[in-house]
Amino acid sequence: SQLHDVSSIHDCKIVLLGDSGVGKSSLVLRFVNNTFSPWQESTIGASFLTKTIVVDDMAYKYQIWDTAGQEKYHTLIPMYYRDASAAIIVYDITKPETFDAVKAWVKELRTMGSPDTVVAIAGNKCDLAENRAVAVESAQAYADEIGALFIETSAKTAENVPEMFRRIPAMLP
Ligand code: GTP
Ligand code: MG
Repeated sequence: SQLHDVSSIHDCKIVLLGDSGVGKSSLVLRFVNNTFSPWQESTIGASFLTKTIVVDDMAYKYQIWDTAGQEKYHTLIPMYYRDASAAIIVYDITKPETFDAVKAWVKELRTMGSPDTVVAIAGNKCDLAENRAVAVESAQAYADEIGALFIETSAKTAENVPEMFRRIPAMLP
C-alpha cells in the first residue's frame, strides 16, 4: 500500500557473516518474519530470504544471504559476499572470541570482497547484558576505525533489529 511506483524498487544484496551460534539466522528471521526460536538450528551452507521495505520513500528489495558460521562452510562464503551491497557481521556480546572473528571477517572482506560493500557490525544477544564480555565502547571504537555502522541487537527481544536493517540504505555509496 505504501508502494505506488514499482519501477523504483532497488535491489539490495545483504550478507550476514559471523561465528556459529551468534544469532545470524535468528536476526534474519526476526526481521523477515518477526519470529524467534530458542532452538534455532545451525545453518547448513546458507539460506536465502527476501523482504521489501520502504525507507525515506524509497523501496528496497533486500535479498538476504544468511551464511553458515561453522568453519567447514567457510570456503562457500566468498560467493555470498561477492557483489553484496552490505555485509552485517554479527558477534555475541557474551563471547569475546566471536568479536575477534568480526575483525577476521573485516580483513577477509577487504582483501577478497568489493570495496563498495558497506559493513555493519551487530553485537547480538544484548538481552544477555549481565553476561557481557565485549564493551560497547571497544566495539564502537573498532567500528569507527573501519568506517562501519555499529549497533547492539537482540533477536530474542527484537531490540534494534528493524533499526539495524533500516539503516543500511543510508550507508550505501
Ligand atoms: P550458524 O547458523 O551455526 O552460523 O549460527 P547462527 O549465527 O545462525 O545462530 P542462530 O541464529 O542459530 O542462534 C544460535 C542460538 O542463539 C539459538 O539457540 C538462538 O535461539 C540463540 N539466540 C539468537 N539470537 C539471540 C538473542 O538475541 N538473544 C538470546 N538470548 N539468544 C539468541
Ligand atoms: Mg544460522
